[in-house]
Amino acid sequence: MPVHAFACCQIGSEKLLKSEVARTQPGLRPAFARPGLVTFVSDQPTSADLELDAVFARVWGASLGRATTVDEVIALLSGADSGVGSAKPRLHVFARDPATEGAPAEVTRVHEALVAAGRFLPEPLPKVGELVVDVIVAPGEPWLVGLHRHRAGRWAVPGGQPPIVVPPESPSRAFAKIEEAIVWAGLDVKPGQVALEIGSSPGGAALALARRGVTVWGVDPAPMGPGVVEYRGPSGAQVRHLAIKVGELAWEDLPPRIDWLLLDVHLAPQVALHSIQRFLPRVKKGLKGAVLTLKMNDQQIFEEIPALLERVKRMGFKEVRATHLPSNRSEICCVAR
Ligand SMILES: C[S@@+](CC[C@H](N)C(=O)[O-])C[C@H]1O[C@@H](n2cnc3c(N)ncnc32)[C@H](O)[C@@H]1O
Repeated sequence: MPVHAFACCQIGSEKLLKSEVARTQPGLRPAFARPGLVTFVSDQPTSADLELDAVFARVWGASLGRATTVDEVIALLSGADSGVGSAKPRLHVFARDPATEGAPAEVTRVHEALVAAGRFLPEPLPKVGELVVDVIVAPGEPWLVGLHRHRAGRWAVPGGQPPIVVPPESPSRAFAKIEEAIVWAGLDVKPGQVALEIGSSPGGAALALARRGVTVWGVDPAPMGPGVVEYRGPSGAQVRHLAIKVGELAWEDLPPRIDWLLLDVHLAPQVALHSIQRFLPRVKKGLKGAVLTLKMNDQQIFEEIPALLERVKRMGFKEVRATHLPSNRSEICCVAR
């Protein structure tokens, strides 16, 4: 069995990822690392089922080794102790740093060469329980070949890099944040639903939801961007702006039914969570889930992540998961159901 593990993260988050793994998996010692990729050596054999419990790890698994040719990849997978077995795995080829010049072309080239070997299932999206071979590429570097097993709560798209395009009419990048959260967590967002967003200005996330047919009630003293409240989406979806602070929100201001609760305010996470706690009993009935952006402005808040997620659970949610989305910078995304 392999004794190495790998984890991919946002460029610049490698140190945070290492500190997190030191806390969650002390048996893993950091080894070779590059921007966006950290490898570890384990005291125990690793496998595709390795769990890191690390918010900053986007893709992780057993590391089978480095390769520069298709034959070398096949040799790594064919090794008796690779863990691949006889069933065909899925193939995910992705860039360690998608913004590097030449990286997208390198991904296409390596992907095409590996697909031609006929050793993988043709569709990339894995079902729960299936094995995924991760081939992590960067121009001019050997590829890192890893293996993980897909489960709920893990990205199904290669590298956790969903191809989301922010439309020019979106007033903010938060359009991408909510779209990524929907894809990552597999949220069942449908036309006719209603969302309440605390911290809605200028309105990228609200616009994304309205385009999906969800009516959004946005609470924010700052103005919404041009065209957001005028927009009409499928099923008559629209964005209604309540130009007040969350503390001023009265229960009677709220719509009778709320399917999704979004929180995205420039406040310390404990303060932000406190702000929604007051009206949660009123909106909880019928709530499908909450997408909470938690700001990680300093090292101390980073240390508090487990306690923050525990607090969200105590607010009455059964399932709480968090990740660092591709569009997150000094913040993480927590999805609670
Ligand atoms: C990151 S922005 C939100 C981006 C927004 N979700 C989007 O999709 O464009 C943070 C927002 O939090 C708002 N905010 C800060 N304190 C607030 C409070 N107490 N109540 C409501 N909104 C607040 C700010 O006015 C700011 O517009």
